[in-house]
Amino acid sequence: MLNGKTVMITGGTGSFGKQCCRDILTRFDPQKVIVFSRDELKQSEMAADPVFSTEKIRFFLGDVRDEPQLKRAMVRVNYVIHRAALKQVPAAEYNPHEFINTNINGAMNVVDAADISS
Ligand SMILES: NC(=O)c1ccc[n+]([C@@H]2O[C@H](COP(=O)([O-])OP(=O)(O)OC[C@H]3O[C@@H](n4cnc5c(N)ncnc54)[C@H](OP(=O)(O)O)[C@@H]3O)[C@@H](O)[C@H]2O)c1
Repeated sequence: MLNGKTVMITGGTGSFGKQCCRDILTRFDPQKVIVFSRDELKQSEMAADPVFSTEKIRFFLGDVRDEPQLKRAMVRVNYVIHRAALKQVPAAEYNPHEFINTNINGAMNVVDAADISS
């Protein structure tokens, strides 16, 4: 179902997102895979991995807290896989607002930017 399609993976540099990218590239023939995340270092390290050295991958710097940026990234995207998250429980206990902003409000921004009603 992903052949010829453009897929965007939020949190594409994370452990889940990277594996997801690898699977899509090996099992399908997508038009493009967009990795959406905040940290340029993680993106450049991923880009340097031979597994991901393909013209089909695009690295988009962005934050799921920023809905306009999500909308720009999603132009002509067919599928979005949402894996951007903060997940360290001790950090969540000390920084609950950060986790709410990314994991809850960010997830809602992804849904709204994807405009799933259309
Ligand atoms: N790993 C697994 O086996 C597994 C299994 C089941 C479910 N999950 C779930 O999948 C999600 C991701 O897990 P993971 O293990 O891949 O975590 P991870 O390795 O920590 O990766 C998190 C990803 O999210 C990105 N990210 C964090 N905050 C962001 C923001 N505000 N905007 C955009 N990107 C952001 C990170 O990149 P930047 O920091 O550069 O932004 C990174 O790419 C979690 O909800 C986890 O519970 C994971």
